Amino acid sequence: MSDPTDAEANPLRECLPRTRVPEPCVVVLFGATGDLTHRKLMPALYNLARGGNLPAECAIVGFARRDWDDAKFRSEIETTLKGAAVSDFDDVWPQFAPRLAFSPGTFDDEKAYEALRAKLEQVDATHGTKGNRLYYLAVAPEFFAIIVEQLGKAGLIQSPHQEGPWTRIVIEKPFGHDLKSARTLNRDVSRVLDESQVYRIDHYLGKETVQNILALRFGNSMFEPVWNRRHVESVQITVAEEVGMAGGRGAYYDTSGAIRDMVQNHMMQLLCLVAMEPPVDLSADAVRNEKLKVLQSLPKWNDDDVARNVVRGQYAAGSIQGADVPAYHQEKGIPPDSKTGTYVALRLTLNNWRWADVPFYLRTGKALPKRATEIAIQFKQPPTALFESDTEGSGGANLLILRIQPNEGASLAFQAKIPGSRRRLQEVRMDFRYGTAFASPPPEAYERLLLDVMLGDPTLFTRTDEVDSAWRFITTILDAWDRGVGQPVPYPAGTWGPPEADRLIEADGGSWRRL
Ligand code: BG6
Repeated sequence: MSDPTDAEANPLRECLPRTRVPEPCVVVLFGATGDLTHRKLMPALYNLARGGNLPAECAIVGFARRDWDDAKFRSEIETTLKGAAVSDFDDVWPQFAPRLAFSPGTFDDEKAYEALRAKLEQVDATHGTKGNRLYYLAVAPEFFAIIVEQLGKAGLIQSPHQEGPWTRIVIEKPFGHDLKSARTLNRDVSRVLDESQVYRIDHYLGKETVQNILALRFGNSMFEPVWNRRHVESVQITVAEEVGMAGGRGAYYDTSGAIRDMVQNHMMQLLCLVAMEPPVDLSADAVRNEKLKVLQSLPKWNDDDVARNVVRGQYAAGSIQGADVPAYHQEKGIPPDSKTGTYVALRLTLNNWRWADVPFYLRTGKALPKRATEIAIQFKQPPTALFESDTEGSGGANLLILRIQPNEGASLAFQAKIPGSRRRLQEVRMDFRYGTAFASPPPEAYERLLLDVMLGDPTLFTRTDEVDSAWRFITTILDAWDRGVGQPVPYPAGTWGPPEADRLIEADGGSWRRL
């Protein structure tokens, strides 16, 4: 768990290299007293300041229900940053603290938005932030539309079609809980905001290793010619988590489950990056157009297809790394009869020329034996076997593994002749590790993404049509489950999911990779 190359575990993580510094602006954090603000957003903003990536004219205003003032907000953030063991605290904090301010209020209270407007004007005057606004909705999803509406009513949103300061809004996941609610939310948001102002965040896209998928595929010439149904046997995408319901997330998670929490967003984005066609350039729309086509190629399933291709699991009591873990339905905030899946495995094919008939196996789960996210591209076996192979099972097929986290990097398995008089082969690996190649672990996803919003670059954010297409696919599964297809099957915490998931892949003659 505490591998030194694991960026999540490394408090001495490097800053983003200083590139373009954004224009002056105020970052308004809705949900400023919440978990996301404290765990991710404030350390990210601090690190951006530390690395010189924030303009001198940048301030952060917290907005939340608690009756705090600027001083109380600063002291809470001070505790948070010290707890996160950020670097250079004594040097950076004296310049960072005065940029923090707080405006209390409930999300549906018009008066609170008037007070916020007054606060922002005051901040503009003190910090020279020039009326530019980045609103970050780090709140429960039921408040997204309310906040957007109230911001509109209070005149806190500047149209991008008029001269003047900019307004951008970051909306956290989940963006809707099915196709219908996502469309309703989109409609509510688009009443007040132009699509160019909306940044739907999927923090997986901010991970260096995820961006490296495009670099590997399109920054090299050797992978792309074999990246298709002629050469690829199958693809496995795994997002495994050791954590269960720690941190009091049970109530949220139970309404979501693995399919909404991880598959609809993070895993669909990984699938897009692995399967998309080369974009004409790296502009936001060129990249997102190609990702959209992948989502549009997802299969259109009926109930039988869902039953055949999707396994939903729920963890039972077990143990992880020697520690006892209660069953999911015994965790805090979880109803004892919950049917929420904490594990999902699915097999799908994409209906397009590049990938037709190539199985993509996706699996994700909580309370698995370890945290590991990886993409494995299994190439076909050589057409004839000239050599004896010592490698169990692979039959000489090449395997490319992209390790998203931890131990960020990539490795390519190929065959080499075992020295000696016999013609025997053994699998060997070429390995690339961020930690050794670049001397420092990759920076935190939220830093990159916050900076991109400030710079007005939406490439790493999901466009409305992507969200729609991903939900269309996921909603087919959810609807089938609602009709009683595929009940959740138990798996003991600390194991790799239910045996049904093994059978899903074994039916095709394969097996899940042992991580
Ligand atoms: C979040 C999910 O989006 O991603 C969590 O809501 C999950 O349930 C988390 O634990 C995983 O993120 P990471 O960056 O730790 O892989």
